Amino acid sequence: MKKTILITGSTDGIGKLAALKMAKKGHEIYLHGRNADKLQKVITELKQKSGNENIDGFVADFSDLSQVQKMAEEINTKISHIDVLVNNAGVFKSSQPITKEGYDIRIVVNYYAPFVFTNAILDTIKKSLEPRIINLSSAAQSTISLDLLDGNITVSDQEAYAQSKLAILMWSFYLSRQESVVAVVALNPGSLLNTNMVKAAYGRFWSSADKGADIIYDLALIKNHAEIDGKYFDNDKGEFGPAYSDAYNVDLVNKLIEKTKQVLKGSF
Ligand SMILES: NC(=O)c1ccc[n+]([C@@H]2O[C@H](COP(=O)([O-])OP(=O)(O)OC[C@H]3O[C@@H](n4cnc5c(N)ncnc54)[C@H](OP(=O)(O)O)[C@@H]3O)[C@@H](O)[C@H]2O)c1
Repeated sequence: MKKTILITGSTDGIGKLAALKMAKKGHEIYLHGRNADKLQKVITELKQKSGNENIDGFVADFSDLSQVQKMAEEINTKISHIDVLVNNAGVFKSSQPITKEGYDIRIVVNYYAPFVFTNAILDTIKKSLEPRIINLSSAAQSTISLDLLDGNITVSDQEAYAQSKLAILMWSFYLSRQESVVAVVALNPGSLLNTNMVKAAYGRFWSSADKGADIIYDLALIKNHAEIDGKYFDNDKGEFGPAYSDAYNVDLVNKLIEKTKQVLKGSF
């Protein structure tokens, strides 16, 4: 059955590869990027490579939550339902690690943006008969500092990234409990896949980017709805696996969500 699929951060890396794989199977694909020219080029490229004309896209810089909100409004107006949302856009290194509002860019792009975006389009997602959300986490997961969420401290690139990736994972578990009809899964797509992010961060890679694209495809279209809901898939092991222990501490999850709502209400 043809699905409507939206992948954020699909102008490059594993998101772009997953989009191409899905487009080749005839699904309706919505891409997202922060740069309008690059987005348009990728739409044209994927149409040519897949022979699928049902590819469109949206622009928003996810380090600016007002753009995230605006993109969500456009989507709610233009798209009747979304079967699969892949929250894939992410950043590790940046020349401007602190946003204009004073928050760490990893926390904003990798966690606050998908949180705001998903909540803003949740009704459109719930119009699907079998909705699912795939949230890109990582093997890098580190205990979250509420001070980092508040923008009160700065930490290393690696630490900010790892905290943002545990935050999106913990929120995935929370969202899965809140939304019974939506299957929500968190994913480590595999470590050091060959993408721009990894080359900039580590200068080397371990596996091809296809490894990440293939597991996104499987979780989006192959695996059973109930099988994935509320779980963490660890593609370094190729199986659903335990996440960092904080993710199973409901008190910590609730504190994270409470702080997130407080920050998002007060600052943006
Ligand atoms: N590669 C790995 O080994 C690995 C491992 C674990 C988790 N992940 C996760 O997988 C996801 C995809 O990463 P990747 O490795 O494919 O990286 P990538 O090739 O750098 O792609 C990242 C995507 O996110 C977009 N993006 C970055 N900053 C953005 C912003 N401020 N606003 C909007 N879009 C933005 C990029 O846009 P541009 O095209 O404009 O750059 C690109 O489309 C990330 O969430 C990452 O954390 C990757």
